[in-house]
Amino acid sequence: MSDKYPDDSGRRRFVKGVVGGATLAGVGATGAAAINSATTSPGAGGGSTQAYAIENIAGPAPRGMPQIPLEIDSEGYLKGVWPEVKSVTQNGITVQIAETEDFKGSGVTYSSEWFQYCGVESYGGIQPDYDSDNYFVSGSNPGYAWQSEAYSEGDRLHVDDFSDYREWGNGVGQAGLGKPATGRWRSEDAEDVIPIQVIRSEEIMELAEEDPWIEASTQEGFVAWLNKCTHFCCVPKYKTEGSAKFNAENDVYCQCHQSVYDPYSIVQTLFTARPRPN
Ligand code: FES
Repeated sequence: MSDKYPDDSGRRRFVKGVVGGATLAGVGATGAAAINSATTSPGAGGGSTQAYAIENIAGPAPRGMPQIPLEIDSEGYLKGVWPEVKSVTQNGITVQIAETEDFKGSGVTYSSEWFQYCGVESYGGIQPDYDSDNYFVSGSNPGYAWQSEAYSEGDRLHVDDFSDYREWGNGVGQAGLGKPATGRWRSEDAEDVIPIQVIRSEEIMELAEEDPWIEASTQEGFVAWLNKCTHFCCVPKYKTEGSAKFNAENDVYCQCHQSVYDPYSIVQTLFTARPRPN
């Protein structure tokens, strides 16, 4: 019997992660500490992690894409929050990790491990002490016409440019659900760019009223996530051409193998983060 997935593929890792995750999840909430000690991998900061993610609702992707908590600075620019950098001892050696416990009183531990998949674990920007101002900036080839008009490459995303979020549309799906932008994060002078997407939406404002994590991690209806498909690492897009065929015209759609994510459903997801290379 031929193996559909090569040994070192992301799919394989996923299968392993889920088997471990399901078994350990059976331990219940009190098993959280045990999960960490049982599965800590060699290298810095890998192992089982519980990320918040925009939910995967169709297609082959194993789980949602991890959320990036965001803030709006006093001048109205959007930035992603990076967890606190600290030193810990793992397997007898001291390593740096980036982790914030009880993020803004939400009870959630926010960790850079959320982003450690698809090779991102080796990107410069994922190093805990990478020197970055953490602003979300527009890339050279933005995903939306409005963005190409409003921004040049490297410009910071600004809250004022999303003020028409209750009406905005691009001809794909229904208008007025939310206004998106594509961009990058923690990628100044870096070889590998960390792709992100943000949306401003009424839906997120409503979710934030009910959920302490969403309240802590979003602001003024803005939500952000690391925009790498958890299937085979393509870069998906909200309201993208061709997505209607797959009922994804109001969702985030990955055109590589038709995975669909709902940006208005934030869920917890357990997976095995890859360690950063030593
Ligand atoms: S669906 Fe395969 S990479 Fe996104």
